[in-house]
Amino acid sequence: MDTMYLLVAAIFALSLTSVESNLEPRIVGGKKAKISDFPFFVSIRTYPNKYVCGGAIIDDFWVATAAQCVRGVSPNNLFVVAGVAALNETGDRYAVQAVQIHPWFNPTMKTNDTALLKLTRKLSGKNIKKIEMTKEAIKDGKDMELCGHGATGYPFKNASINLMAIELKSIASDQCSTLHNRPITNYNLCTKGKSAKGACVGDVGSPLIVRGGIFGTTKLHGIVSWGTSPCAQGKPDVYSSIAAIRPWIRTVCGC
Ligand SMILES: *[C@@H]1O[C@H](CO)[C@@H](O)[C@H](O)[C@H]1NC(C)=O
Ligand SMILES: *[C@@H]1O[C@H](CO)[C@@H](O)[C@H](O)[C@H]1NC(C)=O
Ligand SMILES: *[C@@H]1O[C@H](CO)[C@@H](O)[C@H](O)[C@H]1NC(C)=O
Repeated sequence: MDTMYLLVAAIFALSLTSVESNLEPRIVGGKKAKISDFPFFVSIRTYPNKYVCGGAIIDDFWVATAAQCVRGVSPNNLFVVAGVAALNETGDRYAVQAVQIHPWFNPTMKTNDTALLKLTRKLSGKNIKKIEMTKEAIKDGKDMELCGHGATGYPFKNASINLMAIELKSIASDQCSTLHNRPITNYNLCTKGKSAKGACVGDVGSPLIVRGGIFGTTKLHGIVSWGTSPCAQGKPDVYSSIAAIRPWIRTVCGC
């Protein structure tokens, strides 16, 4: 199986100091993002200040991320930074009170790869805002956006100091399944970028959204779970589907 666990290398290879030395473009093929365009984005870190994963603010006290990011990590070791688009900015730090891993998370198959973090205080401030969660699964061929601090190329480059964003299109699960040669259920959703566009190491946990436009509401649809190695060579990126796990999220946070 040529699955690359988008997280693993990040944990070993990335630290803030290593990040600071690398100024190449990020996500693969993305552009620099403003936090005001992604005010729901947070970075999840371990003390003293090591980037672990991306996440999304889904309620006043709650952040959604991938289960693989926080499984086995004590809440006391984790904190969340909100309101900034660069890993070397101080931002607003939030301690983590509790970590809830999806009870059906399968670390081998990366199914139900979702966790919710409850913070010790309410998320609020400039460029800090929750995102609405979708109730409906995405259709094939829709425009979506991903942001994250993931690497910009392969072999692994360091995480990106700047938050980067990219536009991607949803693809049907059966097509995604065929391209990856493994089963993909509706608990996942997939996007396909053009070649040289997509998620990479360090993007795990980051939010995949659909913009609401002028009259609609921007909604969270996915959380980065896995992709293939090397990144962004035309194979789909795979996410946990918010629509599918919505009932579980509601039981945990009441949101
Ligand atoms: C990543 O960071 C490490 C540690 O600072 C550095 O030695 C390495 O050259 C960096 N890698 C890249 C691709 O920039
Ligand atoms: C963050 O890093 C970038 C790139 O190394 C640098 O230009 C910027 O001044 C740094 N910002 C802070 C607040 O240290
Ligand atoms: C995900 O979890 C749900 C229970 O919340 C379960 O019914 C479902 O089979 C799981 N999905 C996969 C692909 O394992």
